[in-house]
Amino acid sequence: MQYLSEEKITNKKVLLRCDFNVPVKDGVITDASKIMKSRETIDYLLKNNNKVILLSHFGRVKTEEDKEKNSLNIVYEYLKQYYDLEFIKDPLNLEEINDSNKQLFLVENTRFTDVPEKRESQNDLELAKYWASFADAFVIDAFASMHRAHSSTAGLSKYLDTYLGFLVETELKNLEPLVSVQEHPFVVVMGGAKVDDKIGIINELVKRCDKLILTGGILNTFLKVQGYNVGSSLVSTDEEIINNVKIILDKYADKISYTPEFTILRDNVNLEVNLTNIQDNDIIYDNLINKDLFIDAKLVFFNGTCGKFEEQEYSKGTKNLLDALKESSAKTYIGGGDTASSVKLLDNEKNFTYISSGGGATLEYVAYHNLKALEYIQENAKN
Ligand code: 3PG
Repeated sequence: MQYLSEEKITNKKVLLRCDFNVPVKDGVITDASKIMKSRETIDYLLKNNNKVILLSHFGRVKTEEDKEKNSLNIVYEYLKQYYDLEFIKDPLNLEEINDSNKQLFLVENTRFTDVPEKRESQNDLELAKYWASFADAFVIDAFASMHRAHSSTAGLSKYLDTYLGFLVETELKNLEPLVSVQEHPFVVVMGGAKVDDKIGIINELVKRCDKLILTGGILNTFLKVQGYNVGSSLVSTDEEIINNVKIILDKYADKISYTPEFTILRDNVNLEVNLTNIQDNDIIYDNLINKDLFIDAKLVFFNGTCGKFEEQEYSKGTKNLLDALKESSAKTYIGGGDTASSVKLLDNEKNFTYISSGGGATLEYVAYHNLKALEYIQENAKN
């Protein structure tokens, strides 16, 4: 395995795994950052006369019906603005690539191969071998997917010389000061909708940070466990998660912070209320974070928004938070996914030290210092 920047690849057939899993609303891509960030590697490979076959997943595909709403056709249409490329509609039928005189191809959603039996998601090596038979090299540039060891992110490396693309290199290098916690106080902001899929990460990060600010839907469960009424807001009902929340609250009480102010919906009216005023039918949609929480911070990792920031009436908390980060002298790192989209919508992307393209991947990398696909490639790559 090598960085693409260290090796000139010319006149080859290259499988390039990108992360084109972009948000879409009403048939329109609402944030194309991930596609744009892939362009450096695509352009470099094309310029060096390589035939480039783009692979990506798009959404979660568990049934035949999921395929309809998760076609990469929308990304193909977007890429057509920049490239003359061909869309390969079946990820299990790449043969037409050999007969085409095009230089660039986009293959339909790799997760289509998960129906009827999981192949891509279980890192089926027969599938990886099939895809590899169309190429001489594998470039992984899908940083945001590298917490998954799938056939297209990991398995391919067993059969092809493997290179880390420019975006992966940028991410790994830029996230280093955060991963090795080079400054203190280190403040982590954990928000977003659900606590269930982030509890393991919270458990890791709380050990390493000096302050953990909880916000968004995640905060609701922590409040409920402490006996507060959070009305009808989203909370976890999973006993194991609730148990873990209790343990974290007991063990790290001195590190955990939050602002007890919210925008709630009561009888179809939005109100700003304090935690002690929440009633049974209220729904929390925004946490109005206080700027003072960041006063001493030297290093901040912000992952997960304070509320439903896409709706203006619930964007105040996230906007306050971004303003606080901007005013602070701390180095500020922003996780990808919704968090990065909130910066795009509510602020200027230039105001922060680094905005990652990874959501779950960045969280796992910062928390565990590893990514499953990277680990697999390090152990298995042909070169
Ligand atoms: C993301 O959007 O975080 C990545 O594309 C990974 O998507 P996944 O969680 O569906 O694997």
